[in-house]
Amino acid sequence: MFWPDEKYFRKIGLAVILSCLALYMYVCTDIDIGPKIENAYFVNNAGCKIIAMDVMNPEIESYIKRSSIRYGCKQNAWFATRIFNGSWYLELIRSIDEILIDHNLDSERDIKCFYDPYKSISDWNMTRYRRIKSHLLPPYRWKVRASVYLRVSCFHLKKLLHEDVHFFIQPPPQELLEQPVSMKKWVQGSKTEPAESTSEPLISVMILGLDSVSHLNFLRQMPRTANFLRNEMSHVEFWGYNKVGLNTFPNLIAMLTGESAEENEKYWKKIQRMDDCPAIWKDFKKAGYNTSFGEDYPGASLFNYLKPGFGSTPTDQYLRPAQKLMNRRGGTRSQTTCSGGRLLTDILLEMVDNMLPHMQRHPFFSFYWWSQGIHEYFNFGSVIDQRFVRLLRRLADTGITNNTFIFFMSDHGSRWGPFRRTFQGMLEDNQPMLFTLYPKWMKKRYPLAIRNLESNSHSLITTYDMHETMRDLLHLDSLQENRLKQKSWLLWNLRGSETPRGVSLFLPVPSWRTCNTSNIPVAYCLCQKLTPLQLDDRTAMLVARNALLSINQLLDPYPMCLPLELKAVVSAYSSVPHVSHEHDKRDYTVRFLTIPGGAYFETTSRMTDGVLYQAGEIVRIMHRNNNSNCISDLKLEPYCYCAV
Ligand SMILES: *[C@@H]1O[C@H](CO)[C@@H](O)[C@H](O)[C@H]1NC(C)=O
Ligand SMILES: *[C@@H]1O[C@H](CO)[C@@H](O)[C@H](O)[C@H]1NC(C)=O
Ligand SMILES: *[C@@H]1O[C@H](CO)[C@@H](O)[C@H](O)[C@H]1NC(C)=O
Ligand SMILES: *[C@@H]1O[C@H](CO)[C@@H](O)[C@H](O)[C@H]1NC(C)=O
Ligand SMILES: *[C@@H]1O[C@H](CO)[C@@H](O)[C@H](O)[C@H]1NC(C)=O
Ligand SMILES: *[C@@H]1O[C@H](CO)[C@@H](O)[C@H](O)[C@H]1NC(C)=O
Repeated sequence: MFWPDEKYFRKIGLAVILSCLALYMYVCTDIDIGPKIENAYFVNNAGCKIIAMDVMNPEIESYIKRSSIRYGCKQNAWFATRIFNGSWYLELIRSIDEILIDHNLDSERDIKCFYDPYKSISDWNMTRYRRIKSHLLPPYRWKVRASVYLRVSCFHLKKLLHEDVHFFIQPPPQELLEQPVSMKKWVQGSKTEPAESTSEPLISVMILGLDSVSHLNFLRQMPRTANFLRNEMSHVEFWGYNKVGLNTFPNLIAMLTGESAEENEKYWKKIQRMDDCPAIWKDFKKAGYNTSFGEDYPGASLFNYLKPGFGSTPTDQYLRPAQKLMNRRGGTRSQTTCSGGRLLTDILLEMVDNMLPHMQRHPFFSFYWWSQGIHEYFNFGSVIDQRFVRLLRRLADTGITNNTFIFFMSDHGSRWGPFRRTFQGMLEDNQPMLFTLYPKWMKKRYPLAIRNLESNSHSLITTYDMHETMRDLLHLDSLQENRLKQKSWLLWNLRGSETPRGVSLFLPVPSWRTCNTSNIPVAYCLCQKLTPLQLDDRTAMLVARNALLSINQLLDPYPMCLPLELKAVVSAYSSVPHVSHEHDKRDYTVRFLTIPGGAYFETTSRMTDGVLYQAGEIVRIMHRNNNSNCISDLKLEPYCYCAV
């Protein structure tokens, strides 16, 4: 049985003195001590630490103004595209009676419609075919030729009543629709050619992008979509995705080409067209994939905004010409932009929907990007949340998620608005949302690849890594265990500046990676930047003493462990994210030596609004504790210096 001895009383005495000392420190400084922060970092690696932030707190709450978003179109849609017996039809979906009432007309014969089919030659040249005229008469359905872009306009005398543009995607031939669904490469001429005799399965790649959505704002504004991803999909959520450039272009061009915006200039500046940029869809096309590209808002188009655009259609399906023909209501700044009573958001969703029968049957590289509204408004995500749940559910129901690797992503966070002016808003601008969704069978077939993917969820990553990931998806045999091991070994033997800027997410991203080796400019770098402090810095001393106090509190129930005293602070740094100019949050990392026992500990505390919070655990460093035989609690073992 344990009997308190003299040492024990000495220990109590010391503890009392230490507590008084700590109390004295509190009283004599204006710094309050807050509770410990458990998960202090999104990324906590040798090369990069990124501080964790809240999805929601009272301050952020004050920026949430969902009721201010109006969403919907003033006009009504008149027509929808329909397929009957393998042919395209334009069908009136609004009741003719309502149309007549809306426009105060007596007879449908008073309305005359024009159909203008277009062909796209380049982003700046569209050719119109012969115009077709007709009255709005039963059965209110018109067969249209298989041209892709069709503008429809309806008049009463000279007055325009309705105008819209429709985009047609030819469905797969009937005989293919009747076969059981299996994915085969498209072979010209013979549509029933058997699959290639390769041992690896085919996998499609899909990029579903929402412009200007930070990871945290996604969780905040689109909780239904986030829940669906987290609960219903085999996925990895990324917490250390850092933007590499100011706006959409530099971030996405790095993903599509593996090269920076500056490096891409040589492909287009001189010839003034974007066709020669080495977009990865070209490699997929060469490998027998079909390609599809759609953006909902042409004014912010990736290859056209302050860029010359494409001299010839870049992908098999290309939405832009349809968007160009639209007479849009509302500008970029508007919360709702419509064409003929349909939201731009929905027009792109409709394109995806029409592609699904093809995607069930052929490998596809597809790239869909939504920016209307969401690009401008911090709270906009909330009004499209349900739509994206529907989209994801549809991808799952049609089997697309079982044959496709999906990047559900953004390019950067909100770039303006009141929230952007806060410290957290500034950080979030640099940290976009990214989830990767993979077919469940990949985990069985490529267990190491998926384990690595998961292990990178708290690594510093960029769109350059996504590019390398897509390269691996192009050749699935590169995901075999022996290949991955060999590549990891080579990668992990590189150091410092040799670390490649793009690393496939199927490999373990090196823990020593920094913003610099990832090609992230200092101006956007979320990793902490260290500034050395004097060893007698007042805050550093307080951090050390506070850490020691909490160690001694932990040891308090264990009288066999002697209380520790501060011998010296041996190093002290303060750190803020590279990107920040203001310093709302500052981390202090202090290393100190204790007696008795001569152990070194390291601790980090975060100063927020004059309150100091211990961030994470206090770790013992340098060498293992070899004087802890008296305690069996593994958590406390590093701290305990045994009395005997
Ligand atoms: C489709 O074909 C069937 C049989 O040939 C025919 O009865 C039907 O009217 C056609 N539908 C349309 C919309 O043309
Ligand atoms: C647009 O393309 C057509 C067909 O190729 C061509 O004849 C015409 O000259 C082009 N127009 C312009 C402005 O480039
Ligand atoms: C797929 O690609 C082939 C070859 O380029 C092309 O002929 C075909 O129209 C494409 N099909 C679809 C559905 O995009
Ligand atoms: C998913 O794809 C795998 C591999 O192609 C196939 O074996 C499996 O049957 C598919 N599962 C479903 C539910 O379609
Ligand atoms: C990385 O550091 C080198 C040397 O200091 C510098 O020349 C380069 O510009 C840096 N790269 C980035 C992306 O900041
Ligand atoms: C523990 O062991 C290390 C290495 O064996 C030695 O350098 C150190 O002085 C020892 N520390 C204590 C507290 O005994």
